[in-house]
Amino acid sequence: MANEKEKQAAGRAAAKLVRDGDVVGLGTGSTAYFAVVALGERVRAGLKIVGIPTSVKTGDLARQLGIPLTTLDETPQIDITLDGADEVDPRLNLIKGGGGALLREKVIATATKNMVVVVDSSKVVSVLGKFPLPIEVISFARTVVENKIVSLGASPKLRTKTDGSPYLTDNGNQILDCSFGQIADPAVLALILSDTPGIVEHGLFIGLAKVALVGRGDAVEEIRR
Ligand code: A5P
Repeated sequence: MANEKEKQAAGRAAAKLVRDGDVVGLGTGSTAYFAVVALGERVRAGLKIVGIPTSVKTGDLARQLGIPLTTLDETPQIDITLDGADEVDPRLNLIKGGGGALLREKVIATATKNMVVVVDSSKVVSVLGKFPLPIEVISFARTVVENKIVSLGASPKLRTKTDGSPYLTDNGNQILDCSFGQIADPAVLALILSDTPGIVEHGLFIGLAKVALVGRGDAVEEIRR
């Protein structure tokens, strides 16, 4: 429950950073949820924004809350994005994708001027890698990608649904959750993974976040690069 309070505090603090007229990337996950809900309250109080959701689920939530939506085709430049993370290191490198939305999240983060990360204090680490790195793959290439990941020293595990069938992302792809242990050089690993055919996207977000708002106890701390 402590984490829920910290998530809510971080999410609400992030929603305050949004300004009238902004195009806003809307993140996915249980922490971004609080940011989107707080943003919905501000919209109902008169804030004029348009949102671009990072997942079908967040799009549904935003519609319920009355947040007007647009698309990347209509609005390819985003002012601010509020999104969660599974791990944050001191340089604001991230592991994302625990909720399965990493591909759209990275497209949106890359199109964003000011990416704001919202996390509870358990997500802050000195070195990334305790959380298994989500890697989105096309099913056709799964085995060759698994072999590549093993050759890099990690153990891949196919993400499954409760009935045992493969979990599918909003883009119809599968996810391998890959335990690397401590990732000494996330930027190098990110390049290797991005250069592997069959990998659609991986959950290492390098140099994309500008600020992290961390709920810690009753306070919200800020980490900047
Ligand atoms: C969604 O795909 C993820 O990148 C989430 O942002 C991340 O998993 C953090 O989610 P929680 O805030 O639910 O922990």
